[in-house]
Amino acid sequence: MVSSILKTEKLCKSFSNGGLQQHVIKNLDLEIREGDFTVIMGSSGSGKSTLLYALSGMDKPSMGKVLFNGTEIQGYSNDELAVFRRRNCGFVFQSVYLLENQNVLDNVLTGALIVQKNSPELVMKAKDLLKKVGISDEDLNKYPSQLSGGEAQRVGIVRAIINDPKILFADEPTGQLNSSSSRDVLDIFSDVHKRGQSIVMVTHDLKTALRGTRVLYLRDGGIVGDYSMPVYGENDLKERRNGLTAFLEEMGW
Ligand SMILES: Nc1ncnc2c1ncn2[C@@H]1O[C@H](COP(=O)(O)OP(=O)(O)OP(=O)(O)O)[C@@H](O)[C@H]1O
Ligand SMILES: [Mg+2]
Repeated sequence: MVSSILKTEKLCKSFSNGGLQQHVIKNLDLEIREGDFTVIMGSSGSGKSTLLYALSGMDKPSMGKVLFNGTEIQGYSNDELAVFRRRNCGFVFQSVYLLENQNVLDNVLTGALIVQKNSPELVMKAKDLLKKVGISDEDLNKYPSQLSGGEAQRVGIVRAIINDPKILFADEPTGQLNSSSSRDVLDIFSDVHKRGQSIVMVTHDLKTALRGTRVLYLRDGGIVGDYSMPVYGENDLKERRNGLTAFLEEMGW
């Protein structure tokens, strides 16, 4: 039996907007299986980012629990939460947050050096991953302000996976990328997944979603659709696209 890496129990997240309570996630019971590439879809404003932040411990739930490998993460102090995240999680955000006063290579190595010792292997790995997403050696000394939005996003993705996180969280990772950069990034996601790491990714994009093994559809604060696919590359792409499109049409996407 595949164990669950993440589990929610009656998860609720509300915001108070101008005195009104907005219930974005309502009593959600969800299991994210270890090794799955889980995709969260749903219309704009349906709460996808909110759910991702609650799952990853970036934001606290209003009520209910999030369990990582059976341990409730709300029980952690802020310091414990930071250590837990650094050891286990990688994050790719809807907007990239690179450190403006550090160059490309140092941005990638920042978190990794705290976990692993400074080693030539680590620098090699960083350069290799950057090359894979189309960041050349000449760009390594550039600062974030000298990068395009897409280049910055790709550096952010390499920073997120350099520590081989057990689970990678991504919010619209291809949102700012053209199709060839998207492919480079998605190939990296597929590699990460094939190495056995779990991924939870939010996206609006069909091509991006096709990389997943499970697609959850979010509406009215709950999961209203749950669709499974084989690992990317294991079935005919056309058949895969037709299957996912049919599911999404049924969801009203
Ligand atoms: N920090 C916040 N304070 C108040 N309201 C918030 C906050 N974050 C999100 N919301 C509200 O919660 C709802 C869901 O937002 P969320 O960002 O999770 O949607 P989403 O599905 O990720 O949308 P998109 O696809 O546009 O990124 C929205 O109505 C938003 O206004
Ligand atoms: Mg969002």
